Amino acid sequence: MAEVVIVDSVGSAGEVAADVVQRLVAERPDAVLGLATGSTPVPLYRALERRVAAGGLDLSRLRGFALDEYVGLPEGHEQSYASVIRREVVEPLRLDASAVHVPDGRPQDIETAGARYEAQLEEAGGIDLQILGLGTDGHIGFNEPGSSFASLTRVKTLTEQTRRDNARFFTSPREVPMHCITQGVGTILRARHLLLLAFGEGKAEALAAAVEGPLTASVPGSAIQLHARVTVVVDEAAASRLARADYYRYAWANKPSWQAV
Ligand code: F6R
Repeated sequence: MAEVVIVDSVGSAGEVAADVVQRLVAERPDAVLGLATGSTPVPLYRALERRVAAGGLDLSRLRGFALDEYVGLPEGHEQSYASVIRREVVEPLRLDASAVHVPDGRPQDIETAGARYEAQLEEAGGIDLQILGLGTDGHIGFNEPGSSFASLTRVKTLTEQTRRDNARFFTSPREVPMHCITQGVGTILRARHLLLLAFGEGKAEALAAAVEGPLTASVPGSAIQLHARVTVVVDEAAASRLARADYYRYAWANKPSWQAV
């Protein structure tokens, strides 16, 4: 079962998630972090940024792999995940840019881009900690409903719902790309630890389905139930549909001190 941590604010969620990253880096300064984009991981990245700026955390040896990328955005587009990762993660967290990878979303050679990314991941020794957000349609990465639990990095077509959800980052909804390249559900399940974050009422239904619903490709996030080490950090609003919320609070409050997150 996933460890579900319900906190009272998005800010505290960022701190709890940053503790998980900091503990990993203390053990392994050159750990491999799987990086999500979108709004959800921002509180985590800002918490890490504050710790780095205060001199309490050095992430300069950390390696990173983004979960996904849009296909076909012009090179250097400010909403490409390569740009977002550079702006939101690499620069503020003072990572080594040459050690941070994003799937190649350029149309040329796109048919081999998934296999190339998988080879890079393997060469790096796999992901130690994968940060995940959750789509309102239950996706993780850009694995839309129906994605195989065995899937590896490949091109997917975004659902209309995801394109609508992400239109806020673009000047017009039509500008949101139709296709993306994403780590597969199978790729995500190979990471040694999953850290899923979700905030707000809009995620409540998808979160309950992912954490407590049946295992189904119709809710790709439910694949986390197959993983032995999952930490889910959510606010009260996102937790509002969880049937076992009281138990998760009780388990967190009584967590033995010898048990690391
Ligand atoms: C982003 C990603 C997606 C998002 C999800 C939630 O790299 O893989 O799964 O995590 O779409 O997006 P936000 O956080 O913007 O609500």
